[in-house]
Amino acid sequence: MNRTRRLRKTENIRRLVRENKLTVDDLIYPLFIEEGENIETEIVSMPGITRFSLDRISKELDEVVALNIPAVLLFGIPTHKDEEGSETWNDNGIMQQAVRFIKKNYPSLYVITDVCFCEYTSHGHCGIIHDNDVDNDATLLNIAKQVVSHAKAGVDMVAPSGMMDGMIETIREALDNTGFPNIPIMSYAVKYASAFYGPFRDAAGSAPAFGDRSTYQMDPSNRDEGLREATFDDQEGADILMVKPALSYLDIIRDLKNNFDRPIACYNVSGEYAMIKAAAANGWIDGERAMMESLLSMKRAGADIIITYFAKEVAKLLLKK
Ligand code: PBG
Repeated sequence: MNRTRRLRKTENIRRLVRENKLTVDDLIYPLFIEEGENIETEIVSMPGITRFSLDRISKELDEVVALNIPAVLLFGIPTHKDEEGSETWNDNGIMQQAVRFIKKNYPSLYVITDVCFCEYTSHGHCGIIHDNDVDNDATLLNIAKQVVSHAKAGVDMVAPSGMMDGMIETIREALDNTGFPNIPIMSYAVKYASAFYGPFRDAAGSAPAFGDRSTYQMDPSNRDEGLREATFDDQEGADILMVKPALSYLDIIRDLKNNFDRPIACYNVSGEYAMIKAAAANGWIDGERAMMESLLSMKRAGADIIITYFAKEVAKLLLKK
């Protein structure tokens, strides 16, 4: 008889044959930074996650560094929004201030910026609106201005999330032409129009005022199209390819892992975090185990990097073991 149970008998033999492990080296922690002072607002639908103003964020960063989490992904929440999202390329905007603050005070921490417009536009869409839709090519011009401004502030890596066609080529060219050829791009290459972004849109104040994002984000029904999206970003020079959300798209993570010789990242999004937190708060599941199991499933699917609101919690848990 084939007895597969032989290798499951004790924890030590299970350790020896374990195929995938989660480590703190895999994790990126997202941070919401709000313009203003004295702001420390817990996000109701994301227990444990807080919006900070820069004057209050040090204790959060101290913790991230003490836990040895390698990187943070920054989202800025500006006081001023307009039709174009012009604060995104203001050299003194909240994102640029945050990058300078973190690189100055926490030089070892790797700082990544989300490159998008939805938190900065009055209409909440990820670019400029013409005829009731986001104008791809007009938006590209502003993306170029935005990344150069982030680069001048000292960012380590940029992560464009707007799903505009040609955004990677535009960004690579803009960075190369302004003296930043060494800043890598992590592309939100395969990003779906997902219901799982709900809590994030509350947190970042970025829900679209009309319509939805399905003219630029992908249809959740499509798998082959994910390869097409990733192929273009790969050819345009993305250094890391990301799939987002993670849990409902593990097949896409595996597709990318099998097809591209690039590090693959996935984004364990706000709704995935909120579901586990809500069920655990009700005593309906063991939150810690569900957290570890879901993050492990992303590694098993092929993710090299996981962006997750659980990063601090996981890092603490791994230290205990
Ligand atoms: C767009 C952006 C979104 C998220 C990250 N970047 C939201 C969206 O597309 O509406 C979602 C992250 C999450 O849900 O945790 N700038």
